[in-house]
Amino acid sequence: MNIIVTGFMGTGKTTLGRALAKRLEMDFIDTDMLIENKLNLSVSEIFEKFGEKYFRVLEREVVKELKEENNTVIATGGKTLLYKKNLKTLTKNGILLTLHSDPEDLWERVKKYDSRPLLKGITKDEFIKLYLKRAPLYENLPNKIKISNFSETEAETILEFLTKELMRIEIKIGDKISEVILKRSLPGEIEKYIFSEKKGKVFMICDSKVFGIHGETLKKICQSFYIISGKDRNKNLKNAERLWKWLIKENVKRDSILLSFGGGVIGDLCGFVSSTILRGISHYHVPTTLLSMLDSSIGGKNGINLLSMKNAVGTINPPDKVFVDPTLLFSLPRKEISSGLVEAIKAGFIGDPLIFDLIEKRLHLIENIDLESLEEVISRSIKVKKTIVEKDPFEKNIRKFLNLGHTLAHALESFHRYRISHGEAVGLGLIYSLELSEMLGLCSKDLKARLKFLLNELGLKTRIKGNKENLIDLMKMDKKSTEEGIDFVLLKGWGEPVLKRGISKKILLEALEEVLDENTYN
Ligand SMILES: NC(=O)c1ccc[n+]([C@@H]2O[C@H](COP(=O)([O-])OP(=O)(O)OC[C@H]3O[C@@H](n4cnc5c(N)ncnc54)[C@H](O)[C@@H]3O)[C@@H](O)[C@H]2O)c1
Repeated sequence: MNIIVTGFMGTGKTTLGRALAKRLEMDFIDTDMLIENKLNLSVSEIFEKFGEKYFRVLEREVVKELKEENNTVIATGGKTLLYKKNLKTLTKNGILLTLHSDPEDLWERVKKYDSRPLLKGITKDEFIKLYLKRAPLYENLPNKIKISNFSETEAETILEFLTKELMRIEIKIGDKISEVILKRSLPGEIEKYIFSEKKGKVFMICDSKVFGIHGETLKKICQSFYIISGKDRNKNLKNAERLWKWLIKENVKRDSILLSFGGGVIGDLCGFVSSTILRGISHYHVPTTLLSMLDSSIGGKNGINLLSMKNAVGTINPPDKVFVDPTLLFSLPRKEISSGLVEAIKAGFIGDPLIFDLIEKRLHLIENIDLESLEEVISRSIKVKKTIVEKDPFEKNIRKFLNLGHTLAHALESFHRYRISHGEAVGLGLIYSLELSEMLGLCSKDLKARLKFLLNELGLKTRIKGNKENLIDLMKMDKKSTEEGIDFVLLKGWGEPVLKRGISKKILLEALEEVLDENTYN
């Protein structure tokens, strides 16, 4: 993981970046210095001789060259990341920190340097005007850290920011308690928070992509690890059997811990295998997708798919610990961030409308991995789930509310043979549930309109190909259905989910038109 440091000129990007790198034993790179070295000229000289436009071309080249960099603190020029391409390239491999300061303080600092090209002959008023002009451009940059004294000691402020603990809660499910820790951590640190008092051996099931990027973080504390590609179709009996055999060969014991390091697919498999091997051993989750941080690692549902039925075989057996570290999200593809946000939107509809507002207002920040915004979405969603699962751990009644949108979602996933993401399917399922709610006179149209707008902003589908009759058949296989029919979770308004049974087939078919391009087989 890299740490990228940006901010308006004079915020101390180079001084603090270098101090931070030293403190964390990471490499240090300054993009301006790389450009200077390329031409053997100072930034000022490049501006004077060739102009700013040429400088920006060089800057883009340098940023591209840093694509493969790892374990490095990268300080950028003041404007480097105001260009979307540069922002996208650098944030693929790291967390971006945006330093900011009071313009008066900045002026006091920069007026001493006349080597900066944009400061040549500039007055204080002109400097502040420039600051105010640029300020809105920095608005969408994430992880703002206020710097007031520009000395190396501010590196500690950054370290505190990067290791902040946000929440530690217990969730009681039946007679078991899960401890959930929401904490930022530096690479290699997680083990000390979750394994401080462990006695038995640790076996890790890890997502293959996650292993390539973050694997070192937990590898060394494991007795043995097993790597699986985090695809929904891998949540199957074959893999469960392979995992049982692996554990037995590795001499698993009753006090062993099975640890998942990946998204919901790895977590669901890990929970299932841990509840069945030796009739049950402990499991811990270190979720690495947004969806698994705010939803699937919480509440203890585990399972595998069988035939065309999603999560057909499984258990309700909560993990002993869940360690949620949002800094792991920097490497998650943006589409997966959107997918996770859909489960948060669902939690918003069920129990905390502020989640929806937050996503609407801070989407750009969230997409750029703004830790504070993500943590607010994650902690609020976890609390909605905690309230529900503690009251109804084994889904006798209100836990079904957490399935809002999932009846159609699971049918769509199965129909499309798990080639659509879970979040995308849930987004479509939510539209469907709101359409049904509207048709039955339960809620007004504006909820669905707002949802569709937000899903569009998230780059997710609001319509999909499918066959109505097939989907109705698949929905009948939903785990909430009984001999009396399917229990649909619908919405009366914000925070007012209801269960409806016995909706006529005519209405179910008609509502499908809202999300389906009919008669197209997958
Ligand atoms: N148990 C529950 O209560 C519950 C609740 C909701 C969903 N689920 C299940 O969760 C699954 C979906 O989970 P998901 O959305 O996390 O998907 P996932 O586990 O398939 O992960 C999505 C993709 O992200 C990759 N990935 C994971 N972490 C990464 C990281 N940090 N950086 C880069 N790539 C990374 C994976 O390799 C995969 O390609 C479904 O099977 C669904 O049924 C379970």
